[in-house]
Amino acid sequence: MMIVFLGPPGAGKGTQAEAISKGKNIPHISSGNLLREAVEDGTETGIKARHYIEKGLLVPDQIVVDIIEDRILKNDCKAGFVLDGFPRTLSQAKVLDEMLRNLGNTLDIVFYFSVSKESVVQRLSGRLICGACGANYHKIYVPSSKDGLCDKCGGKLNQRADDKPETILERLRVYHEQTEGLIDYYEKSGILREISSDDRRVEMITKKISDTIDNTLQKKSLIGRGVN
Ligand code: AP5
Repeated sequence: MMIVFLGPPGAGKGTQAEAISKGKNIPHISSGNLLREAVEDGTETGIKARHYIEKGLLVPDQIVVDIIEDRILKNDCKAGFVLDGFPRTLSQAKVLDEMLRNLGNTLDIVFYFSVSKESVVQRLSGRLICGACGANYHKIYVPSSKDGLCDKCGGKLNQRADDKPETILERLRVYHEQTEGLIDYYEKSGILREISSDDRRVEMITKKISDTIDNTLQKKSLIGRGVN
């Protein structure tokens, strides 16, 4: 199952991608995580990407396309994946279609996470990430049980460098300008499913996504067997 999670910053894509990846046993591929890892490792890609990420701007298409292509070609992606944060421009979407076509595949579902601007600002300004294992928390909505420490590994929780108020607003502006048009692109291809992400019950959203995936898989298998 080839799945894309599309939506504004802070919509909950990463949180849901983690849950779906575990539940369906397919890898979670986050372009943001891959870029942040490259920045931390000081690779050539990371050095080029850092300035864009810190300003809340999109990293140039070719840099992101290269890291995503490398990842998708790995063996663990053969049965499917959840792509979170990619594509983000029309040109990235077209490259992804071509990448999958070359592998004899197509995207099955694009989940569009719709969420209010207020939720985005509240979620991103309260987000905390474990510096050791990358687990994702929120000061109010998804708190850790020990203040400032990760429940999973005991690592220290930090704010992401691009979660400062002025950068959050810039990321939202960039999303409206460069990414929102993809909703129309995928709607036209008939694979878009909207998920209302304002609901604070994370597990309810996971269930809706999971049910939609199961229904789509079932239909696909019926069509594969010639049953309409
Ligand atoms: P990226 O890392 O992709 O960031 P983003 O898209 O801005 O998304 P976020 O990670 O901020 O939010 P999310 O939707 O995953 O929400 P989360 O689940 O964490 O990209 C960062 C940067 O990298 C970009 O700005 C760009 O520079 C670059 N980049 C990445 N991909 C690129 C591409 N394709 N092309 C070019 N450049 C690219 O949730 C947020 C918070 O809310 C958390 O605290 C969470 O605990 C909480 N939460 C989650 N769900 C709920 C809920 N239902 N109720 C209450 N709280 C919730």
